[in-house]
Formats: sequence, structure tokens, C-alpha cells
Amino acid sequence: MKIEVLRIGQRLVRDDRVTTHAALVSRAFGASKILMYDVNPDIKDTISKINRMWGSDFKVEIIENWKEVISSKKKGAFKIVHLTMYGESLNTMEPDLRKEDKILVVIGAEKVPREVYDMADYNIAVGNQPHSEISALAVLLDRVLQGKQLQTKYSNAEHEIIPTKKGKRVMNKTTD
Ligand SMILES: C[S@@+](CC[C@H](N)C(=O)[O-])C[C@H]1O[C@@H](n2cnc3c(N)ncnc32)[C@H](O)[C@@H]1O
Repeated sequence: MKIEVLRIGQRLVRDDRVTTHAALVSRAFGASKILMYDVNPDIKDTISKINRMWGSDFKVEIIENWKEVISSKKKGAFKIVHLTMYGESLNTMEPDLRKEDKILVVIGAEKVPREVYDMADYNIAVGNQPHSEISALAVLLDRVLQGKQLQTKYSNAEHEIIPTKKGKRVMNKTTD
């Protein structure tokens, strides 16, 4: 399944840590790209360093207009999956979501405009309690991909972790 993530809204005080985490979680949990508003350019550098060291070709795309992004993704046969505590239960909807070929997961960094709810093909709640866009995203991606994303290996990685019971083992694929 092809998965992209759209983060809507920017807080008055830019929260670079949360923005970076939204990108890192998207990458580590199986999405190929995150689209978001003007962010600290360091975030792009951080993600490209992570790609170089640990592999993948994950992309960060800076956007100007979320509505245009949603419309063009719909034309490109993406289903729009908006995460909101007011939506239908993930537990009920996950079998339908798994059947999709391409999804754009929309998360809010602040109050999300009403139109997003109308443009979405699915409004999905990860429980009906307020929590965070990052936790909602991680749980959704894990349910949709059923844990397979946790086993991904990248041929272009410079480093690869050898899982161990204690300590840290890292193979440098360029020298070892
Ligand atoms: C801090 S919340 C902001 C919610 C905001 N008060 C609103 O009314 O949209 C940021 C984002 O986290 C996600 N989120 C929070 N709780 C969620 C839940 N229970 N289910 C799905 N998504 C959730 C949504 O994408 C939401 O836009």
C-alpha cells in the first residue's frame, strides 16, 4: 500500500520537535512522504541524514495549500483518511482501510477546518478521547500494515542494527 501523510495547520509558535516526530513516525511506520506547511528547513536536513544513515527514500514536501493537495491526491486515486477523535472507530473500519491501494493520512497540528471532514473518504477515530496526531498516526499505520513495516530493511542504508538482548550492535554496511 502506498501511504503519504498530510499535516494541516501550523501553531503560532512553531513546534519543531513535534513536526520532526511527525516526519520520523511517518517514515518509520511505512509512509513514503509527509507533506506539510513551511517548517524549519533543518527538519529536511534531519530527515535526509536519517535516510542516508538508516536507509529509505522518505520525502518531506513543503506545501502552500492543503485543499489543493487533497484535491490532487484524490485525482491521483488516493483515498483520504482523516484522523479525528470524532470519526468512525478504527477497530470497525480497519478491514476497509487495508483494502485500499493508496491512502493520504491527514492529521491536524491544530483545529482542523470543517471542509477536511467533508473532503475525507474516511474520518477515523483512534478511540474517542483527545490525544495526539503522532500517536493517532502510529496506531493507524500499525493497524493498516499489521506490523509488517517494523521489519523493513533498506538496501541503501549505511548502517543496520543487529537486534541484541543487551547493549547496541550496529553494522556499518559500507565497511563491515
Ligand atoms: C491535538 S489534536 C487537535 C484537536 C483539535 N482540538 C480539533 O478539534 O481538531 C491534533 C490532532 O491529533 C489527532 N487526534 C487526536 N486525538 C485523536 C483521536 N482520538 N483519534 C484520531 N485522531 C486524533 C487529530 O488528527 C487532530 O487533528
